[in-house]
Order: sequence, then structure tokens, then C-alpha cells
Amino acid sequence: MSGTRRGRPGKGLGAGVTGHNHRFVAGRCGADAPWVLQDERVSDAHRAVRAADPDSPLDPAAMRAQYRTAGLAEEDLAADPYEQFARWFADAVASGLHEPNAMVVSTADAEGRPSSRTVLLKAFDARGFVFFTNYGSRKGLEIAANPYVSVLFPWHPIARQIIVAGRAKRVAAEETAAYFRSRPRGSQLGALASDQSTVVASRAEIDAAYARLAARYPEGTEIPVPTEWGGIRVVPERLEFWQGREHRLHDRLRYVRDGEGWRIERLCP
Ligand SMILES: Cc1cc2nc3c(=O)[nH]c(=O)nc-3n(C[C@H](O)[C@H](O)[C@H](O)COP(=O)(O)O)c2cc1C
Repeated sequence: MSGTRRGRPGKGLGAGVTGHNHRFVAGRCGADAPWVLQDERVSDAHRAVRAADPDSPLDPAAMRAQYRTAGLAEEDLAADPYEQFARWFADAVASGLHEPNAMVVSTADAEGRPSSRTVLLKAFDARGFVFFTNYGSRKGLEIAANPYVSVLFPWHPIARQIIVAGRAKRVAAEETAAYFRSRPRGSQLGALASDQSTVVASRAEIDAAYARLAARYPEGTEIPVPTEWGGIRVVPERLEFWQGREHRLHDRLRYVRDGEGWRIERLCP
């Protein structure tokens, strides 16, 4: 049952996790079952007993991964954060970790109440980080009321994390249309069928909406870009690169926008 690590990063990566005293390595547990599913097979009563047991492999307080010592030094950083992001993104892809483009986007409503969810990064360049969503969703409405967002790449298997703070804005309609056209037909219809984040009476209602649209736009016809769907670009003001190190003395280097350029700061771990 000991953890198996897929796609362990190469030595040159300077990242990785060693010395786990728990089984949940790289999101896998034993016989190829995602650990969440494994956990769900434990009955509630069993789970309660095991969680109270300090030797339990399910006790989060006892989970302590030790990170490799290779660090992140100021002189290793690229002059601009986009190039640094590109290097680390390439490392994350090379490590084989699942969905390296998955990122947690946090927004806050007009009263400052936060909410978070995972989305997929679909483009990045010197203009920022782009994901696609429904503008009428909770996140879409919150961004319309308050453009300040936080984006987090949780690359646990390689002991890295990137946090981007910035302002969100809609991408141009042509950029949305170009990406929409590149999506599989089913995803195009899905985006059109779902009034994301609104309450719906049943699954059947969603499936019926999809079926109606599939009949209306048969193979060979063009599916219109939903008016309330499109890209959001997060234009960064700060980007923190976090590298896990031994004894919890991690490296945290942060690019802060400074006029036309960037200032680099080191933060205590
Ligand atoms: C791995 C993963 C990727 C996702 N990618 C997207 C995405 O790119 N765009 C999106 O709108 N929702 C995506 N979702 C769903 C969101 O997490 C969320 O449920 C949805 O956007 C509604 O969020 P909201 O109600 O907070 O606006 C993804 C979920 C997961 C787990």
C-alpha cells in the first residue's frame, strides 16, 4: 500500500518530496486507486476511529512530508515572471503530475466574502493568465463587482506552488470565439446548455437542455458562442514562487510589479 509516484521529477528539477510518512503520494494510494476513492470505501464509523488514532494513516495532523533540499535562489530566477512561470510550468508538465494547468481561482464579492474553485489555464503570456468560464457564474459576477483575484497552482507532487495576485478582465470576443471553436463539439454544447452556478431542479433538466441543443445544432452546423461565456485574463501584480525545502525553511521569491518592470522580494517561509 505504500505510495507510488508517477513521473517523478528529474534531479535537475530541484523539487520533489521525500520521506513521506503517509500513503498519499502524488494523489495515488496503492492499487492505482485515487486516494479519495480509497477513503470513501472506509465506513463512517471506521473513519471516526481511525481519525482519532495518532498512528492512523488517515490522521492529517500526522502527515509530514520532507522536501528535498535543492532550493530556489534569487540568481536562478528569470528577469521576468512570465519566463519564470514558463520554466516551472515546463517542469510541472515534465514531472507528469496530473493536470498541471489546473489552478485555484479565488474571488471575493463586493462585501469581501471570498470563494474559490478550480479552473484550467488555457493560455499565458506577458499579458497574463487566461481561463474560460461563464460570465454569469458566481466567479464571473464576483469579478464584475470586484476584479481583484488570487490564482494558485498547487503542484504538491513536485513541492512547488505559484500564487498570482492580480486583476481579472474579460478577453476580447475574438479570442473567446477562437478558443470556443477549438473545443470539442460536446464541450461547446455543454457550455451553451449550462447556466453555470444557478440552481437547477434535476440532472434530467440539464441533460434535456443538452439534447435540445444537440438536435438544434446537428453535426456540420456551427454552434454559436454563448453570449455569457468567455475568457478571463488575470493580469498579475504579484507572483510568488514557492519551493518546498527541508525543515519547513522553504524558499519564497516574489515578483512585485514596479513601474514597467518587476522587483523581487524574498519572504520568510
Ligand atoms: C480540474 C477542474 C477543472 C475545471 N475547469 C474549469 C474551467 O476551466 N472553467 C470553469 O468555468 N469551471 C471549471 N471547473 C469547475 C469549477 O471548479 C466550478 O465548479 C465552476 O466554474 C463554477 O464555479 P463558481 O460557481 O464558483 O463560479 C473545473 C473544475 C475542476 C475540478
